[in-house]
Amino acid sequence: MSTAAELKQSDNLFIHPWDDIVKLGGNQRTLLDHGEGVYVYDSEGNRLLDAPAGMWCVNIGHGREEMAKAVYDQIMALTYVSPWSMTTGPAAEFAALIAEQSPGDLNHVFFTTGGSTAVDSALRFVHFYNNLRGKPNKKKIIAQKRGYHGSTYLCGTVSGKERDKSNLEMESHLVHHIEAPHPLYKPEAMSDADFLDQCVGNLENMIAQVGPDNCAVFVAEPILASGGVIVPPEGYHQRCLEVCRKNDMLYLSDEVVTAFGRLGHCFASEDVFGIVPDIITTAKGLTSGYIPMGAFLVSDRLVDEIKAKGGDSAVFSNGFTYSGHPVAAAAGIKNLEIMQREKLFEQVRNTGPYMQQQMQTLRDIPIVSDVRGQGLMACVECELKQGSNDLAMDYEIGKLIDKHCQQLGLIVRPIINMCVMSPPLTITRAQIDDMVSMLRQGILLALAEIESAEAAAAEVGHKHPSPAA
Ligand SMILES: Cc1ncc(COP(=O)(O)O)c(C=O)c1O
Repeated sequence: MSTAAELKQSDNLFIHPWDDIVKLGGNQRTLLDHGEGVYVYDSEGNRLLDAPAGMWCVNIGHGREEMAKAVYDQIMALTYVSPWSMTTGPAAEFAALIAEQSPGDLNHVFFTTGGSTAVDSALRFVHFYNNLRGKPNKKKIIAQKRGYHGSTYLCGTVSGKERDKSNLEMESHLVHHIEAPHPLYKPEAMSDADFLDQCVGNLENMIAQVGPDNCAVFVAEPILASGGVIVPPEGYHQRCLEVCRKNDMLYLSDEVVTAFGRLGHCFASEDVFGIVPDIITTAKGLTSGYIPMGAFLVSDRLVDEIKAKGGDSAVFSNGFTYSGHPVAAAAGIKNLEIMQREKLFEQVRNTGPYMQQQMQTLRDIPIVSDVRGQGLMACVECELKQGSNDLAMDYEIGKLIDKHCQQLGLIVRPIINMCVMSPPLTITRAQIDDMVSMLRQGILLALAEIESAEAAAAEVGHKHPSPAA
């Protein structure tokens, strides 16, 4: 058996997502060993509260024995069959269970291997649909700045975070980005109604600019998750859906993060935001991260239209070896069963507002510039100098908060200077108190470290003034 030190060394052969290739070889990531409930334990036995639930995904919490048993049983019964020519009980049953939970007439399920492949496949389906109904020019995708939709070539293009695009190629003619509906940037003098008009106007203007006959789909996260938990103004999604309908465009709601309980419902589009989109993408909470899986759900309306327009045959030549993988589907069925049996969606409707309330108490820390969120999704944004927009400084504060929180027993996954909290849905009020308290201490310790480094630098400068001074 390798020691923890040896494993950390070997880990340098594993190119992680968003790895800095120049620094490859010198990484010393925390080696996690096991998990239980809302906690994970590192190789030295330290207990850490998993505030991001991995990557917004371990919704039912870590170490569920009945999940292990469901997966084991399915492997022993049947590991895999080709989804092209055959099917399995778990895949068929899981599709029906998802359709039961989905809003409106989104009753057809296309299984994929994760969130990126769900979004990618859904967008290919949109193009397929428009080709079949004789609208081959309707291909353009409108998405949001600060949105994240995954890491395939197409999803990377659709994502709206500029800094993620450096040194990579994008299919720039296909996608147009509009401003994210971020209430933080609402001018003080502007009313809420005018701000909503402005946000919706951004979509209308972009459609006018690109040409309605060229626009196929609007892609939006119900709450922009990794863009920093941006909760749009009330009515935003409903108004955008109306704009899409007016312009013969589809609405793709990317619920990779928000589905399966994070906002207190199985799907957030209808129950939280009052819309029935044409397509929903999901992953993460779909299996609570126990086995990789994603899916897109599409409305009967679109399927029926394709059936009507497709003539004798309309093959959607898109899919994966692991589409509807029976082991992943078995995990998904068990995951949903646990969520329903333990009434986790109801629990989130209770603990979510409590977590938001407790997070707001962090506003008194001088470097906290915003606290926002909904349900079990929250973000604390920190700035050393308010409004400075200094990226290096933002990275530094995020790194220090991360370090101190981890020493205190809390995993934070700072997205630059934004601490995002999305714990397992099972988190209790006492654990929320503990999480917020550790986050407070972590931010204060990071601030103290920066202040003492600044004081030391000033002292050196005072003793050894530069020649120019
Ligand atoms: C909203 C959203 N869509 C898509 C994805 C991509 O999912 P995956 O990483 O499973 O491919 C993510 C991942 O974080 C996401 O947050």
